[in-house]
Amino acid sequence: MMNRQAVAPAATTWGAGEYELMATKLDAAAEAAVRRAEITIDDRVLDVGCGPGTNTSHFAHTQYLGVDHNPRYLEQARRQHGRDFLAADVSKLALTPAARFDFILVNSFFHHIDTPNVRRILSQLGAMLTEDGHIHILDLVLPARTSIPRLLARMDRGEYPRPLVEWKQIFSESLETEIFEPYPLTALGATLWEMVYFKGRRMQ
Ligand SMILES: C[S@@+](CC[C@H](N)C(=O)[O-])C[C@H]1O[C@@H](n2cnc3c(N)ncnc32)[C@H](O)[C@@H]1O
Repeated sequence: MMNRQAVAPAATTWGAGEYELMATKLDAAAEAAVRRAEITIDDRVLDVGCGPGTNTSHFAHTQYLGVDHNPRYLEQARRQHGRDFLAADVSKLALTPAARFDFILVNSFFHHIDTPNVRRILSQLGAMLTEDGHIHILDLVLPARTSIPRLLARMDRGEYPRPLVEWKQIFSESLETEIFEPYPLTALGATLWEMVYFKGRRMQ
């Protein structure tokens, strides 16, 4: 069996320049989510696991805070975007109960996090949404059948790609579901990664 740690450096040591093909595709999906959400100038945006600021430019007209634990990513993000970025391990972050956001983006982050911590973080993030705020999650699906997307999901640096039913279950435990939509990331007409887009709000 292949030792994934041997081919994947620890997340905190990834160089910003290593963020290859997948990032542009993840950004396109996030951009679509932002477009659909029609966020406005007063909206407060939290970008969880923001990486090197891949999605930051979509929020040039809003209040914005990006959080990531990789200092090299944040260095690049600050240089490029001049916005607020917080260096923190989100699974250990004690988020202040007073903090409220209208739009929380979690793009390709949770497949790096074990399930108990995903549950804890989701519940915290839900509590940080404003009454009419939304959380937008895009993440990597582990397909059931042997295929290229399954192989690529297994090779990903994130150790926790999950089957679609598992994502659905985990999201719905802490949030009200508005959209749960699988979609493919393709190149040259072939599906390389299977993804899911979730839009939800705090439990009423
Ligand atoms: C696949 S990247 C996605 C980055 C960005 N959201 C994007 O769309 O390009 C996952 C990000 O999660 C960050 N990350 C992983 N575990 C983390 C943790 N426990 N706390 C904070 N950030 C974490 C990594 O540093 C990386 O930037």
